[in-house]
Amino acid sequence: MAADVATELATQVQVRRATEADAAGIAQVHVQSWRATYPGILPAAEIERHTLARRAGLWARALQTPLTGVFVAVAVNEVLGFASTGAFRVEPAGSDGQGEGELNALYLLPAAQMQGTGRRLFDAGAHALRDAGFAAMRCWVLQGNPAVAFYERLGGVRVASKTFTVDGVAVEEHCYRFDLS
Ligand SMILES: CC(C)(COP(=O)(O)OP(=O)(O)OC[C@H]1O[C@@H](n2cnc3c(N)ncnc32)[C@H](O)[C@@H]1OP(=O)(O)O)[C@@H](O)C(=O)NCCC(=O)NCCS
Repeated sequence: MAADVATELATQVQVRRATEADAAGIAQVHVQSWRATYPGILPAAEIERHTLARRAGLWARALQTPLTGVFVAVAVNEVLGFASTGAFRVEPAGSDGQGEGELNALYLLPAAQMQGTGRRLFDAGAHALRDAGFAAMRCWVLQGNPAVAFYERLGGVRVASKTFTVDGVAVEEHCYRFDLS
């Protein structure tokens, strides 16, 4: 999408709960945003592994679940971004975060970024988790991702870090925690 078109669309952006019909649009955003964000952060093979077909299948299945905590930002029926929430996946077992919520994914098309839409999607996910009884929300962000500054701007506190290996490359990831009370 051209940047001027996306900027125009951003003035009409609606944030709402995702439906099954949004699966293809979410997958498209997921793939495009990954390809724009992760070169130099993740190995190229890992980025390429998450194809549009694979993402579309995963999102179609995920959105079959009723009451799924997925939100989309749409304008003129086009998905510009999405946020996905759920219970925090405590790994390794026994570590901190038990009983808290998680922002599993938050991705916007490159041309739709820095116009306040990420914050709106973040807020939609946070409110849904709070309404579901969660007192806090966590999310993981890779070292080197500019999104670290976004999460810190929104009040996130870094509470954990871990390193894992992808295709033989060590990647560091940070966990941010947001108080929802
Ligand atoms: C990270 C992301 C979701 C943020 O959404 P966004 O719509 O671009 O951000 P917003 O316009 O809502 O910004 C909210 C605030 O954060 C700040 N901010 C956002 N991105 C920032 C950045 N890279 N560096 C510094 N500040 C940033 C904004 O300036 C704004 O501050 P303000 O309240 O003072 O105006 C979006 O940029 C994105 O999709 N990035 C690529 C995918 C990604 O990395 N997702 C996170 C995976 S963990």
